[in-house]
Amino acid sequence: MPSSDTVRIAAVSDVHYAKTSQGTLQPLFNEITQRADVLVMPGDLTDYGLAEEARVLARDLTAAVKIPIVAVLGNHDYESDQQEEIAKILADAGVHLLDGDAVEVQGVGLAGVKGFAGGFGRGTLGPWGERAIKAFVQESVNEALKLESALARLKTTHRIAVLHYAPIPGTVEGEPVEIFPWLGSSRLEEPLTRFQVSAVVHGHAHKGSPVGQTTTGIPVYNVAIQVLRASYPDQPAFRIIEVPRDADATGTSEDRRSMGRRATDREPPASRVADAAAK
Ligand SMILES: [Fe+2]
Ligand SMILES: [Fe+2]
Repeated sequence: MPSSDTVRIAAVSDVHYAKTSQGTLQPLFNEITQRADVLVMPGDLTDYGLAEEARVLARDLTAAVKIPIVAVLGNHDYESDQQEEIAKILADAGVHLLDGDAVEVQGVGLAGVKGFAGGFGRGTLGPWGERAIKAFVQESVNEALKLESALARLKTTHRIAVLHYAPIPGTVEGEPVEIFPWLGSSRLEEPLTRFQVSAVVHGHAHKGSPVGQTTTGIPVYNVAIQVLRASYPDQPAFRIIEVPRDADATGTSEDRRSMGRRATDREPPASRVADAAAK
């Protein structure tokens, strides 16, 4: 059972639910409900971005998960141009679906954005030359700005960033180096440092590395279910991140499923300094 002095965040992404997936992750979702206070799902919730796939996932989540769920969409969820319907289906199932906004759950702030590609460090694509290149780069910049504005809304002591694309190269290592630029963007890293995020979760890089850190030492976790299965074959395929609970944050088992509110809805809690720890 979750302890009272920490908020346990279970994270798993890239579940790629298909029309035939009904029930496949129910055991995993059941275990998460027993072991965590909140479930975070950083994108690629569906396989082909079909509303029907989202309905299958929503049924499994509704049946098994009795704690708040926070998610962002991934690139696969956009494949069939049904992302708005997918978002509605998941929202109707009680999922806090974030796209440049934030939510507080039991005193912990979660800011979410899909992110975008573009490369890392010196290899980051710049807005130069053809119009198509500039548009591509602008999409990456826009996602970073959305992350920044989402984090700015949070007044909690601890903030968790939820992304689909990677903000650093460290957690995509293991993938072919030729595709690194399509797995994330360093433009997503700067807001993490500026707002002193406690931890970052992302997915998308199915063959990446499970743990990394930003240049300033913020822990970054690739929680793609494929990475977790490959890296920790003897453990259930989710990561638990423990965050110290703010002194004024409360939550009972009765209201655990529904708890969570938009970050703009409340005043800042009492400040307390501690570090997030991950398992
Ligand atoms: Fe994926
Ligand atoms: Fe993806």
